[in-house]
Amino acid sequence: MAIPQEFLSELRDRCDITSLISGYVNLKRAGTNYKGLCPFHSEKTPSFTVFPDTKSFYCFGCQAGGDAVTFVRLAERLDYVEAVKFLASREGMTMPEDGAVDGLARAKMRVREQNRIAAKFYYHQLYSPAGREALEYLHSRGLTDATIGRFGLGWSPNGYDQLSKLLLSKGYREDEIIAANLGVKRNGRLYDFFWERVMFPIIDLQGSVVGFGGRTMKKDHGGRKYVNTDGNSLVYKKSENLYGLNFAKDSKEGSLVVVEGFMDVITLSQAGFDNVVASQGTAFNDSMARLAMRYSKDKRIILSQDGDAAGQNAIRKSIPILKRAGADVRVLSIPESLDPDEYIRKYGAGKFRSLLDSCASDIEFEIAKVRERFDLSTDDGKLKYLNAICPLLGELSRLEREVYAGRVGKELDIDKAAIISQIESGDRKRRNEERRAQLKAMEAQTSGREDKLNPQRKEHIRAASAEDSLLTALFYSPDKASYIKKKLPPEKMVTDFNRRLYTIALEIIESGQELSVGTVSAKLTTNESGAAARLFNASAGGMTGLDNIDFYIDIILGEAERLSADEIATSSPEDLMAMINAQRKKKD
Ligand code: UTP
Ligand code: MN
Repeated sequence: MAIPQEFLSELRDRCDITSLISGYVNLKRAGTNYKGLCPFHSEKTPSFTVFPDTKSFYCFGCQAGGDAVTFVRLAERLDYVEAVKFLASREGMTMPEDGAVDGLARAKMRVREQNRIAAKFYYHQLYSPAGREALEYLHSRGLTDATIGRFGLGWSPNGYDQLSKLLLSKGYREDEIIAANLGVKRNGRLYDFFWERVMFPIIDLQGSVVGFGGRTMKKDHGGRKYVNTDGNSLVYKKSENLYGLNFAKDSKEGSLVVVEGFMDVITLSQAGFDNVVASQGTAFNDSMARLAMRYSKDKRIILSQDGDAAGQNAIRKSIPILKRAGADVRVLSIPESLDPDEYIRKYGAGKFRSLLDSCASDIEFEIAKVRERFDLSTDDGKLKYLNAICPLLGELSRLEREVYAGRVGKELDIDKAAIISQIESGDRKRRNEERRAQLKAMEAQTSGREDKLNPQRKEHIRAASAEDSLLTALFYSPDKASYIKKKLPPEKMVTDFNRRLYTIALEIIESGQELSVGTVSAKLTTNESGAAARLFNASAGGMTGLDNIDFYIDIILGEAERLSADEIATSSPEDLMAMINAQRKKKD
């Protein structure tokens, strides 16, 4: 039975791989990932890793890996369709029978319709007597009626079920209202999900309302400041959404400013900054980073989170993720720990504009963070600061090194040249270490266990590694697919297995699906999907630049050329004649 794409992608979105696997493996957090003892081979130290960002797992010990479906297939010994059924029932989704895909599309459409009705209802409530206080509140926060209208703000009244009744009267069933997150069932009764809250509709790129944030006006927040639509509903995925992108995508500005909250986007917009989106209080993940990159013309992302510890933490987490997506990351630090909304209201748009124009690069942000750790009034502190800062500067271009070494030099009253030579000695050390590590890794691959999936790796170590790296680069930046394919047609891939992965990845991209461990694994055996998971999660740290891609392609093409030369040399005279004839025909 062919399972419809729509259903599979829905299932992949919904399934939380960490919680799934934690039912089988005792997982411990390790950075953004989770580690545990591999359920598929016996080991004493954990090499089994779950990657929530790419919704996949990989065991560095036995090379098992893949997406949630692969995991269920292996753990429950099921075939593909059975595993999908297993997961679907875990997520409370019914497997589509014939014609049921239309059912899902229809269900989504009806959620969107209900959201539109709800948004209108909330807006009217805001301008009715029931919403007077809320309207005053928004005005007191400096918003004009035009702004309120532009963002479609509203008020959900306290009537327990006013909206639900309206939706029922328009022909929506109870279960549909609940699925839309606009109603909840309590003690056998249907209640409105939102009440007594200022409503912020969340609008997707097609312009349809996919969810809401509702802010209380109570000083003590009466429990929760915001109540939001389920971030994993039929039509709304919080982890793949940037609030305000529906407006910001049309901005003439080249950069994209990322703030934390609804109110920040709205106040900034009213003040004339239309290239602003909100991460809604979370750090960036890969999907959000890719989304942001797609809509910032000059690939510059300016992080302007709140000045509090949570905001600063979110910035630190987001920087590497955005860099991996190829962004030029800047950090805007707002004085006095204010958020952008508060700052603009206190100091005005002009002041904010100058903050924006002078905002620090990510490296300045990192330097400032390192500086905080040392007491620069003592020699010991200065020395330690210098030691900590040199590796950071070592990651920069020559020109940037000059600039920042100059600044640090002034700060510490040390000759710039001395700092630069310190950085360069670090360079040499690192290069040597890298080379050694690379050699070691290669040796491990040749001498240790062989690569069963890709037996040709043994003879083509360098090309196969370049293929691996190129695939990783492709996984991180599928937007470069057509460039890569033009330079490297699949038949030029040296090893058969990597050629297969490459062809599958290109097919997925060309068919308009999302390239993920899930979509790739669906076309592989459970054994093979481990390789996909490994390549998807190989840290691409800066490896997606076109320079690197060209570098890998050159290695692969070089090897391919050498091989075809070998082929001629080892061909029989008959084959050789045939080849020459074929060449002639081409020319005619
Ligand atoms: P903030 O607490 O900074 O809120 O949270 P805010 O948007 O600046 O609101 P005001 O200025 O106090 O009115 C930032 C974002 O984090 C999410 C919301 O998306 C919010 O806009 N958040 C915050 C929640 O989802 N739930 C909460 O309880 C708090
Ligand atoms: Mn705020």
